[in-house]
Amino acid sequence: MTKILMVCLGNICRSPLAEGILRDKAEKLNLNILVDSAGTSNYHVGEHPDHRTIKNARSHNIDLSKLKARQFSHNDFDNFDVIYVMDSSNFYDVISLARNENEKQKVQLILDFIYPNASISVPDPYFGGEDGFENVFTILNNACEVIAQALWDKK
Ligand code: 4NP
Repeated sequence: MTKILMVCLGNICRSPLAEGILRDKAEKLNLNILVDSAGTSNYHVGEHPDHRTIKNARSHNIDLSKLKARQFSHNDFDNFDVIYVMDSSNFYDVISLARNENEKQKVQLILDFIYPNASISVPDPYFGGEDGFENVFTILNNACEVIAQALWDKK
């Protein structure tokens, strides 16, 4: 079973959405994977996703209302095969906790999967309006579609 962790700063906007989208696609494709998410910060630990994240996901028939934010920790390198980060600052925050090359190699910008080596970040919608959340949904849905297809091809 492939274990995938989605990581952003607060674990209340981008990474819970990425978690919910990939889980939804995995269920539809009957993929045997585990998906979780975490934040590099402790700002929102224990909170449900932002109400705008929940509302956006619900409009796409994805329920995120029961998720709770947690902070990324060292143990996550042991528990996950791939760690997809949303932006370059998440990338450096997570890489700085890696203990060896094997752990570093688990960390990838999620958009590198569809735009290799382009270093494109998923924009942070937290300080903007609701249209920013729909934009993030579109971006993550495209990325997760390709990730799910690649996992299906590996099956
Ligand atoms: P996220 O968005 O990293 O996509 O969950 C943010 C959530 C909270 C904050 C920043 C970004 N904040 O500064 O509290």
